[in-house]
Amino acid sequence: MSKVEFFRHNISEADIRRAAGVLRSVFLTTGAEVASFEESLRKYLGVEHVVGLTSCTAALHLGLQAWGIGEGDEVITPAMSFCATSNAILHAGAVPVFVDSEEATGNIDAALIEDRITRRTKAILPVHLYGHLCDMRALRRLADRRKLVLIEDAAHCLEGRRDGVRVGQLGDAACFSFYATKSITSGEGGAISVHDGRRADLLRHLRLHGIDKGAADRYTKRYRHWDMPVLGWKYNMDNIQAALLVGQMAGVDAGASRRRAIAEEYEKGFAGVPGIAMTRTAPRTEHGRHLFTIRVRASRRDRVLTVLQEEGIGVAVNYRPIHLLSYYRKKFGFKPGAFPVAERIGAETISLPLYPKLKDAEVGTVIRTVRRVVERHG
Ligand SMILES: Cc1ncc(COP(=O)(O)O)c(C=O)c1O
Repeated sequence: MSKVEFFRHNISEADIRRAAGVLRSVFLTTGAEVASFEESLRKYLGVEHVVGLTSCTAALHLGLQAWGIGEGDEVITPAMSFCATSNAILHAGAVPVFVDSEEATGNIDAALIEDRITRRTKAILPVHLYGHLCDMRALRRLADRRKLVLIEDAAHCLEGRRDGVRVGQLGDAACFSFYATKSITSGEGGAISVHDGRRADLLRHLRLHGIDKGAADRYTKRYRHWDMPVLGWKYNMDNIQAALLVGQMAGVDAGASRRRAIAEEYEKGFAGVPGIAMTRTAPRTEHGRHLFTIRVRASRRDRVLTVLQEEGIGVAVNYRPIHLLSYYRKKFGFKPGAFPVAERIGAETISLPLYPKLKDAEVGTVIRTVRRVVERHG
């Protein structure tokens, strides 16, 4: 039986030619290609500024730094996410304060946040899990009322909308990933969007050690001494990554439509099947559909995962909750039971293949195989 890959990227021959053009040129690092990618992402999102970086983790870290969040501060964030989200909070020197998930979407439960706010809380860092936008209107109201910074982890959600709001619009900043399995990818890559020009300038400095002239300035203009007014990091996107991404921007909406159509097929195929539960989409939401997950009985999940792989279906688990990873247990003393909804999702969830190149016949194979395997082993 042929394998249904968990993910295949959408990089075209034209994207490869554009990257090859950069490789044949003199200038490989942050320059004109990065500027064009930033501009096309900025226009797509309808935001004021975009800064190209090497990862979403870098974007989250710099976003927190750009708002001065660090030592002694607390940042509220979901337990149900990839560890990059809370690791970035630790990298900034602050403490992640976890909140449980809503059952229907897996997103941070906005109703539980207020109780977790203390004098030390400086920011809320929600994650648009699987591409489903959080309730950004509620989070914005709460952040304003409690004078907190709101930074969106949009690693899953370039395309999401909810209640007329797009990703990046209500957050003070939004952080994006172009990691290998994301809807547009350069293997590794990331970006941050912000509304405030001064913060955008600061982020441009912070992404390159904190020095006040980028490599392109030093290359295109005559040599001038540079200074380092702040301490930054080495997080600048390069022209090779940007060249791969620029062309993919044109296909973002078509890719999301195809993924939505596949998700509908999955929803129809699994509706009412005993032993399979699915997430629900909130009203007035256009789901970004980065990942499609099902939930099966916790005690059988790993068996189902194994058999699906033996049957040639690429699967993943997004995610086992962060607070139960060894480092977090040891450092903060977390125990099972702390965030019951996130833990249930983590124990029951399975991600299925979802990408524009997935063929209708493969979607059919996934549905039939999953139904059969869950019937037998679930
Ligand atoms: C929710 C979430 N946040 C952050 C990240 C980190 O992204 P990157 O790999 O670009 O640093 C990921 C990566 O997959 C993610 O899934």
